[in-house]
Amino acid sequence: MKILVAGGAGYIGSHTVKELIKDGFEVIIFDNFSTGKKELITGGEVVEGDLLDKESFRKVFKSHNIGAVLHFASLIQVGESYVNPQKYYLHNLISSLNLLEVMLEAEVKNFVFSSSAAVYGIPEQIPICESHPLNPFNPYGLTKYFVEKILQDYDRAYGLKFISLRYFNAAGADPEGNLGEMHEPETHLLPNLLLFLLGEKENFDLFGVDFPTSDGTAVRDYIHVTDLAKAHVLALTKLLTSSQSEFINLGTNKGYSVLEIIKKTEGFTGRKIHYRTMPKRRGDVPVLLASKEKAEKLLGWHLYYSNIETIIETAWNWHKKIVSRKS
Ligand code: UFG
Repeated sequence: MKILVAGGAGYIGSHTVKELIKDGFEVIIFDNFSTGKKELITGGEVVEGDLLDKESFRKVFKSHNIGAVLHFASLIQVGESYVNPQKYYLHNLISSLNLLEVMLEAEVKNFVFSSSAAVYGIPEQIPICESHPLNPFNPYGLTKYFVEKILQDYDRAYGLKFISLRYFNAAGADPEGNLGEMHEPETHLLPNLLLFLLGEKENFDLFGVDFPTSDGTAVRDYIHVTDLAKAHVLALTKLLTSSQSEFINLGTNKGYSVLEIIKKTEGFTGRKIHYRTMPKRRGDVPVLLASKEKAEKLLGWHLYYSNIETIIETAWNWHKKIVSRKS
């Protein structure tokens, strides 16, 4: 039995492929390489194709015994999703519908979905548990919300079993140094800070200093990408053994403000970060903090790498490596 990983050449997908292979799973990576990178492939069979072109992956299901699908392939920029919602509905929603259609044709009924804390919108309670009301308010979050609703209907009607993993803020890089974050353009906090320190960005902009938080900057729950990847292996194993659909948060239950991350990064690197203060980005919420109880209880999940120093250290090592490779 093989595991199809859609978007397996992306940031979180590639770290998960590495963990799956370590755990003895046979993996097929399906990626259109629009944002995925060949250099983030550390093993498995690779099929290049696009989820908007059903024929490009229908044949994969016909020629292999696929036992489950992990679906990472998605666009992730909240800001862009306001400016170009059509792109998001096409690449995050229609592509997911296509994948599910072909899975059902092939009678593959195990699905692990990359969802997001964005399904909650502005939280009413902190920490956020999975039963928190869902109020996504940006097109990106809506695409994740719609797929979750579709999955519930497909479970009821067709017996499709799924685990939808709601990620908080993925950060850091493979502790062995082989993988890391490579978004283009980069919009995330920690890589932007590190790329600025490495001279790859002219300025670092701090977006929003008037949030209702203790220092006015937004608070996020940063989870190390390897811990996130390990949760996928546990979720897949759970799905294959218990056949029960679930929604599960993946976060640490600990938050850091943007200013705290800046201070921690300065402390770790020994370099001062002179930042520009900018207005809030559209769609940014003041605080996102996960309850991790369900992931721990249901999956037996533990955090190994998610303390903030390890997150910064692994990300720093990765960014230094890719910057030096360029020169
Ligand atoms: N920030 C800055 N400067 C930057 C980058 C980010 O000040 O250069 C701030 C943001 O405004 C925000 C915080 O740092 O307040 C965290 O921003 P990120 O972009 O790192 O993370 P987000 O919480 O905005 O995004 C996360 C995921 C996205 C996902 C989104 C959905 O990383 O991929 O949640 O809620 F789309």
